[in-house]
Amino acid sequence: MPGKIPENLLEDILGRLDIVELISSYLPLKKAGRNFKANCPFHHEKTASFMVSPDRQIYHCFGCGESGNAFKFLMRHERMDFPEAVEMLAKKTGVVLPDRDRPGAVRAASITAQIYRINELALNFYENNLGSSSATLSRDYLLKRGITLETIKEFRLGLATSGWDGLINFLRSKNAPLSLMETAGLVLPKEAGGYYDRFRNRIIFPIFDIRNRVIGFGARVQDNTLPKYINSPETPVYTKGKNLFGLNVSKDSIRDSDCVVIVEGYLDFIIPYQEGVKNIVASQGTALTLEQIKLFKRYTHNAVMVFDGDTAGELATLRSLDILIEEGINVKIVPLLKGMDPDVLVRQQGVAAFKEKIEHAISFFDYKLKLLKSRYDMKDAHGKSKIASEMLSTINKFDNAILRCEYIKRLSEEIKIPEHYILEELKKIKPNFKPQEIENAPLQKKQAPINPAEKLLIKFMLEEKELIEKIMQELSPSDFQDLRTAKIVSVMQDLVVQGKNIQPSLLMNYFSEDDASQLVCETMFMPELSNQEREKALHDCISRIKVNRLKSRREHLHAQINNAQALGDEQKLNSLIQEFHNLIKKGD
Ligand code: CTP
Ligand code: MN
Repeated sequence: MPGKIPENLLEDILGRLDIVELISSYLPLKKAGRNFKANCPFHHEKTASFMVSPDRQIYHCFGCGESGNAFKFLMRHERMDFPEAVEMLAKKTGVVLPDRDRPGAVRAASITAQIYRINELALNFYENNLGSSSATLSRDYLLKRGITLETIKEFRLGLATSGWDGLINFLRSKNAPLSLMETAGLVLPKEAGGYYDRFRNRIIFPIFDIRNRVIGFGARVQDNTLPKYINSPETPVYTKGKNLFGLNVSKDSIRDSDCVVIVEGYLDFIIPYQEGVKNIVASQGTALTLEQIKLFKRYTHNAVMVFDGDTAGELATLRSLDILIEEGINVKIVPLLKGMDPDVLVRQQGVAAFKEKIEHAISFFDYKLKLLKSRYDMKDAHGKSKIASEMLSTINKFDNAILRCEYIKRLSEEIKIPEHYILEELKKIKPNFKPQEIENAPLQKKQAPINPAEKLLIKFMLEEKELIEKIMQELSPSDFQDLRTAKIVSVMQDLVVQGKNIQPSLLMNYFSEDDASQLVCETMFMPELSNQEREKALHDCISRIKVNRLKSRREHLHAQINNAQALGDEQKLNSLIQEFHNLIKKGD
């Protein structure tokens, strides 16, 4: 549903906008007949099956089914929510939106906007500091670490100087309130009253969200004092575990290469990126969280983890593995020697060596088994059982029974224990796991295909408003057997009665489920028919749906008759049989 934004404004925005122009600012579109096409930005593909229709103002991918109007494109591509997408396109088209009627929501939205703004101001301050003539030592520190001046600019690295109130004074001069500085995590309250700068005498790594807004900061000492890094605290716009450092600049490359390289630290990201590994993100020093995985999952399902070669790195890798597998990510690992991390590796051995290691990343199975073998004694029965149960707890995370089966087989070979004993142990973790699942796995239920007659009628109705009334004289929405087509027809009928516009790009704002709006888009890209073909098809479709209706009525009556027979209800039986005869006679 369009929610609180009036429909006529949505119509206004869509009417003033050109979806071709909008989408081509994100990806190259090529002319294809009346439409435009491109490689789909929402799944990996080599031939273009992503279509944009200037006539209909919609897009549809024949590969992955993703489809919608301009709002939906922004929601998917820029991860905006519906009101954000509307707001952005309203601005672009000069449509004025009314103030939203929930005052709480307005205030909440504006506090985040204020934080983005003050963070941006703070970043300007830090950037300037690093560029100033008194910051030679800091710049030298970065250069010595292999970071070029261009990279400093590109990632907008900065410097917090050693005073206690440099930032506070700067932000005050920009009229920023102290309370906002505190909410943004930039300053801390003093016990005696007043505030001081949170980051002092540190190199600043700004953290951006996917839309390039500054959401927080990481700050590193320039020597070996501790703590090495401090970060922004949790704020209304920043939670460490919900952000992937660098995704704002690497997302296109992740999508294009259909693979993401995941590292731990800021420098582990910056150095390989600078040297040409562009499909990379950093977890910022912890095991991956579910939220972080969801962030990159839209771009790829393939990940290579390159975490530090120390115990903390190993533990973080192990913990991440289970969540990655649970999320259906195909994950591989590059094991590093102790004391090694991607930053050091690239600087010592060159980026080619790093890429080579990524190429030859090993499976979770080999990685974890090797680690376990180094921890437990394989020759000892208890050690073996420990190894088996830890391997099984990860194997159990695979949703796919065939993969589970395959790994169980390998585990059986590795630890030289017959498979059925291993299965027995697995059942203890997951009592409902049955080996038969394997046989059923490929038969996963697909969505039932929609009757072509129903689809075609939807297309006709969308193209010619007059047909809706004509068709509705013969059929009702419930005659459409598919839930999606029935829903579309009933919404169209309602809108026509209310005298509203039913153009496809507007219509889809009424469907909260994706599949109905996907169907609308799909029908719009079905081949055009000549007038004569259309006339005939229209007639055929209506009669085919009527035949189906008759068939299902008959089936329903038949079931009722059986029921009455079983109950011995003579009277009911007679009236049902009469009804059945009438139905057959009428043929409608
Ligand atoms: N980290 C953090 N707070 C700390 C230590 C680490 O937030 N006290 C995060 C940072 O994002 C850091 C990452 O964890 O980049 C990895 O930490 P570590 O391996 O200790 O640092 P490096 O990235 O190797 O830092 P450097 O190379 O600058 O020494
Ligand atoms: Mn490092």
